[in-house]
Amino acid sequence: MAETAVDRGDVQEQIVTPWDVVASEKGVDYGKLIEQFGSQRIGGALLDRIERVTGQKVHRFLRRNVFFSHRNLEQVLDNYEANKPFYLYTGRGPSSESMHLGHLIPFIFTKHLQDVFDVPLVVQMTDDEKYLWKDNLSLEEVHRLAFENAKDIIACGFDVNKTFIFSDLDYMAQVPQFYQNVLRVRKHVTYNQVKGIFGFSDSDSTGKIAFPAVQAVPSFSNTFPHIFGDRPDIFCLIPCAIDQDPYFRMTRDVAPKLGYLKPALVHSTFFPGLQGPKGKMSASDASSSIFLTDTPNDIKTKINKHAYSGGRDTEEEHRKIGGNTDVDVSYQYLTFFMDDDDKLAQIKKDYESGKLLTGQLKQILIEELQKLVGDHQSRRQAVTDDLVRQFMTPRKLNFDPSK
Ligand code: TRP
Repeated sequence: MAETAVDRGDVQEQIVTPWDVVASEKGVDYGKLIEQFGSQRIGGALLDRIERVTGQKVHRFLRRNVFFSHRNLEQVLDNYEANKPFYLYTGRGPSSESMHLGHLIPFIFTKHLQDVFDVPLVVQMTDDEKYLWKDNLSLEEVHRLAFENAKDIIACGFDVNKTFIFSDLDYMAQVPQFYQNVLRVRKHVTYNQVKGIFGFSDSDSTGKIAFPAVQAVPSFSNTFPHIFGDRPDIFCLIPCAIDQDPYFRMTRDVAPKLGYLKPALVHSTFFPGLQGPKGKMSASDASSSIFLTDTPNDIKTKINKHAYSGGRDTEEEHRKIGGNTDVDVSYQYLTFFMDDDDKLAQIKKDYESGKLLTGQLKQILIEELQKLVGDHQSRRQAVTDDLVRQFMTPRKLNFDPSK
């Protein structure tokens, strides 16, 4: 990426695109991002309504503001209450074999939504995107990675009767409706628009400039005739990290011009890297991430060695003034993964009062993550190539498009 005005310090503005996060020392200001992007905050009233409509306690990701922003989520609830169908759409860019904890967040939440609402799900593997953006990956390699990453996604527990996972490279050749919708979108989006939304420059390849339409069209139900028949009017909800929003701003702009529905969205914050609150976990820096392939010992070593601490320099000082949970990465990670609200509140209280030391806090996290990652590994082990092929075959799902 070329140096931006923000790098030079000319502009005091944070920039979040699917490829770039430029933020201040304190990390991303998510409140400001809601303003910049024009989305809505997920507030208490909406959480109450979700609880009422679904008849169960909202997921910890909602209770803890991990999914903090949305577009048209009320409409999804309206549909559900009126017994009108909708479906879920999310995805993954398969750029490496090594998925990390941060990559799990949207999938954990999507799996929860699939269970609660009992709806179909499509998962897009953008092998084409990664081919275009990464210099060192061949088409064969990104295609292989799509298949490999699908195993980690399946290991999150999705129901094969309600879930379709597809590689763009495969699906484009299998189902004509995919490319037809891509063309419809391309016809109505100008270069000037994608330049404005994504920050493309004149030296970006035409492959990149043309790509956003590919990520847009799974938002339209007639892209999946084997699931939805020829109906273009089945509503779509997209759980994603907030950096993917530019794709869907474009999608929502163009949808009415094509006679399609604008998709609804729920956005998550970034999962922090081990070394601090700034930015997101990066798969290219081994010491900044916990990988889904890490051993219990890897996890222990990484947390103890690299997890940024909000504790004080000496035990004496820590006992006196307590730790800072706002910046402590171990505590932050627990907010993502420890489900028990009371237990988490007690940990916060004890850490801030100085009763709980950094080493003890890290130990709690280590055990939590060793279990999470270990369980994930056993489930992934059980995912056969055959099962992956089943998930990735265009077919009918448990869904009646005539309703
Ligand atoms: N571009 C995303 C990535 O690089 C992958 C993706 C495709 C996606 N479709 C999506 C993510 C829909 C969230 C929702 O990871």
